[in-house]
Amino acid sequence: MSVVDVEIAAPRQALEEHGTPLALAIADALGRMAETDLDPDERAGIAAIEARRAALLEDNSFVAGSETLTVHDATRLASKKVREARLLFRLVRAIKPKVAIELGTNMGISGAYQVLALKLDGDGRLITLEGHPAGRRSPRARSSPTATPSTEPTRRR
Ligand SMILES: C[S@@+](CC[C@H](N)C(=O)[O-])C[C@H]1O[C@@H](n2cnc3c(N)ncnc32)[C@H](O)[C@@H]1O
Repeated sequence: MSVVDVEIAAPRQALEEHGTPLALAIADALGRMAETDLDPDERAGIAAIEARRAALLEDNSFVAGSETLTVHDATRLASKKVREARLLFRLVRAIKPKVAIELGTNMGISGAYQVLALKLDGDGRLITLEGHPAGRRSPRARSSPTATPSTEPTRRR
């Protein structure tokens, strides 16, 4: 049993015992978060998002409205790591919300995972809000399932 399996075993069991459709969907998402056997559309979408993350990590320009915070640092310090983002992705695929609302866009990584999940299930949209006083950091603060997930940061040079 892996470390991930041990960490999720108890909450997963509690959710399964709860037994409501939502609890079972979340339990299923937890069970599948470390899954390596992705379908081709999932694999391609996640690869594109992670390529975008890699590009952001190479970007040392400042985010909009900041003289100190670089795109690199905002991405490295605050974006969901792959494991958490994969759980979020699985949750959205399991629950299939019509509307998902995210507080805290940052560079758009978690938003891109949610939009990918919404797109793969064909219906639903994401509204993601950034409360940083300098304004949103990602230009695509509202996205539809037909939109390409974008994590393009707004730069100040
Ligand atoms: C941990 S980061 C979000 C990371 C992003 N969800 C991801 O995983 O890619 C938190 C973000 O929330 C923003 N924030 C903080 N307080 C907020 C609020 N009250 N409303 C909306 N955004 C807020 C911050 O500016 C920051 O960009």
